[in-house]
Amino acid sequence: MKNNYNKWFLFIMASVLLAKTSYAQNTPTLKQVFKNNFLIGAALNAAQISGKDTLAAPLIKTQFSAITPENIMKCEVIHPSWDKYNFDLADKIVAYGNQNNLPVNGHTLIWHSQLSPFVKQIQSKDSLLQFIKNHITTIASRYDGKIFSWDVVNEALEEDGSLRNSIFLEKLGPDYISEAFSIAAAAAPQTELYYNDYNIEQPKKRAGAIALIKNLQSKGIRINGVGIQGHWRSDNIPLKEIEESILAFSALGIKVMFTELDLTVLPNPWDVDAADVNQKAVYNEKMNPYAAGIPDSAQQKLTNGYESLFKLFYKYSDKINRITFWGVHDKQSWLNGWPIAGRTNYPLLFDRNGKPKPAYYKVIAVGKP
Ligand code: XIL
Repeated sequence: MKNNYNKWFLFIMASVLLAKTSYAQNTPTLKQVFKNNFLIGAALNAAQISGKDTLAAPLIKTQFSAITPENIMKCEVIHPSWDKYNFDLADKIVAYGNQNNLPVNGHTLIWHSQLSPFVKQIQSKDSLLQFIKNHITTIASRYDGKIFSWDVVNEALEEDGSLRNSIFLEKLGPDYISEAFSIAAAAAPQTELYYNDYNIEQPKKRAGAIALIKNLQSKGIRINGVGIQGHWRSDNIPLKEIEESILAFSALGIKVMFTELDLTVLPNPWDVDAADVNQKAVYNEKMNPYAAGIPDSAQQKLTNGYESLFKLFYKYSDKINRITFWGVHDKQSWLNGWPIAGRTNYPLLFDRNGKPKPAYYKVIAVGKP
């Protein structure tokens, strides 16, 4: 009898091992299937570059071909006071990228959110201009030749396509964008320079982004690409607008990228879709319906959403240079905490155990039919 148990045990263990190896051997990874199409990036946090996030570690090295720091190059981390910079984590992600052959996209130089408190207190136009010069020159020159690209300006537009009413617009006027790109071009001649924003696939905001890019081009200021963030809803992806945007932006002669892709499956507290990190809503249980697990119907919507999106990306792979996911796995996605803290969201291709989800296999199948 005991012998029989042993046999069964061995048989089950062998099957599990076999199943595991055949997944690893037979399923190509994201970066492999799309290697002739576009880079597949992931935003990384501090725990991921240090290796503390053990779920993410093997995925980063096998699945992705580019990285973006999720927070650690933002002003509030890298430039805490007027003449103090904190390069610890930023240096680490740059070293990590270089060691692992993963081009780094610097995120981000000029953005109205996650500013250090000292910046918000700057009163005069001259001091704010001096801040922009110091900030960009110090950071961009340090990493020139070591990182691939910069999101030079992030989220400078309102939904109607006009310039966002930020501290920069208010104190410096609309020319601050040209200033930022010129300073970056001088400080980082070997680094590509991008404009990055959410909802710029939508017609009005897209027109604003096109005007912004054309304005730089008409002044002879270097801009190499545009990043469409891609924080969409899994059951309402604006495919038509995305397609129009790929065509319209690439017609400007610049690279087109999707830079912060994730698809929320949770209810939206507002009528409008946006990704403004300062907009927050209060928690209630109705807004967190999948705390115990994602039901099949929502999983299916996510799978379909990713499949149709990647079919579109694949169709235009000659115009798209990079698709970056905003995170590696569901457990660490910012969408568990935004726009409502304490929810359980499922927006990425890898689940809370780091396992590929049904959407992953559909995306792989698009690249390898
Ligand atoms: C988010 C990060 O993921 C969060 O960890 C942080 O608390 C807030 O910012 N648009 C951007 C990103 O350009 O920098 C934001 O990242 C998400 C929206």
